[in-house]
Amino acid sequence: MAILLTGGAGFIGSHTAVELLCAGYEVVIADDLSNSDASVIDRIETITGRRPAFYRINVADRAALETVFSAEAIDAVIHFAGFKAVGESVEKPLAYYRNNLDSALTVLEAMQAHGCARFIFSSSATVYGLTEQIPYTEQTERRGCTNPYGWTKYMIEQILQDAAAADGDLAVVLLRYFNPVGAHPSGLLGEKPSGVPNNLMPYVTQVACGIRTHLSVFGNDYPTPDGTGVRDYIHVQDLAQGHVAAYRYILEHKGCEAFNLGTGKGYSVLELVHTFERVNGMKIPYQIAPRRAGDIAMYYAAPDKAAAELGWRACKTLEDMCRDAWRWQCRLQADEET
Ligand code: UD1
Repeated sequence: MAILLTGGAGFIGSHTAVELLCAGYEVVIADDLSNSDASVIDRIETITGRRPAFYRINVADRAALETVFSAEAIDAVIHFAGFKAVGESVEKPLAYYRNNLDSALTVLEAMQAHGCARFIFSSSATVYGLTEQIPYTEQTERRGCTNPYGWTKYMIEQILQDAAAADGDLAVVLLRYFNPVGAHPSGLLGEKPSGVPNNLMPYVTQVACGIRTHLSVFGNDYPTPDGTGVRDYIHVQDLAQGHVAAYRYILEHKGCEAFNLGTGKGYSVLELVHTFERVNGMKIPYQIAPRRAGDIAMYYAAPDKAAAELGWRACKTLEDMCRDAWRWQCRLQADEET
């Protein structure tokens, strides 16, 4: 039996494929490569010594998905496929709702048709929205989202809760990621932002290698220890291992459960920048800029439920995240120059 990773060639999907293969599970990847490339499959094989089955398809295409479910014995699906840029979702809301909702529904319908009843969803802490209760626990009241990308996560969570309530055989885990950063320690896998990065760590690594002149720090007047925004950064390899733990959990549990995947520790923008400078021995030029619309001052996870029920905790440090992110950026540069 195999685990199907939709969007498995992407940043988090590829790291999860590695961890599942290393744990001895069979992996099938379905990805249209719209935000990744086929070399990722080779790199997964280089790291693990095992090659996942790969289908280049859009999972919102039911006929194409049917070929995967007919050819492979799929025991569970981890659904990563989806559009994920917050700013773009504000500009193109219909594209985001159409793509993200369609792909989730199509995967669920194909699973139902083939008697596959285990679904792990790549959700986000963005579903907690504008709540002021910190740290976020899975019970924290959700007060709506700040952008269409977030709403698609929120809506898919609702769809999954309803589907699990209606079908007693269905097992669903909602994984709410905090801020995934870093890269595989081998330097072979990482995030490849297209265009100007929106997120902090890829922006910092591009400043470090001279693609950008300086970082703009969005606001230094927040009610946080140094005035800059505080987030719960989590190493992508820790996050990937959280998926392995969720798969083991879902083998034993029915119904729908949400888990935070974060470290439980918040770091400010400037703490991240200074840690990056220290561990990589360089200066990151930055300027204080106005607050970014839609940002909130501070949030981080209460990771206790995942520890108690999944037996999982993040163990990598901010230093590890900065070191691995920089190694990956150097690799990207070297690849581009050859
Ligand atoms: C955003 C999304 C989140 C998504 C995450 C991916 C929302 C509200 N947020 O989180 O859903 O999972 O990206 O990692 O939907 N910053 C700068 N300068 C920059 C870039 C960022 O100062 O050039 C600051 C931000 O103001 C913030 C922190 O760095 O305080 C982190 O920002 P970012 O990496 O974009 O992540 P979030 O906005 O927290």
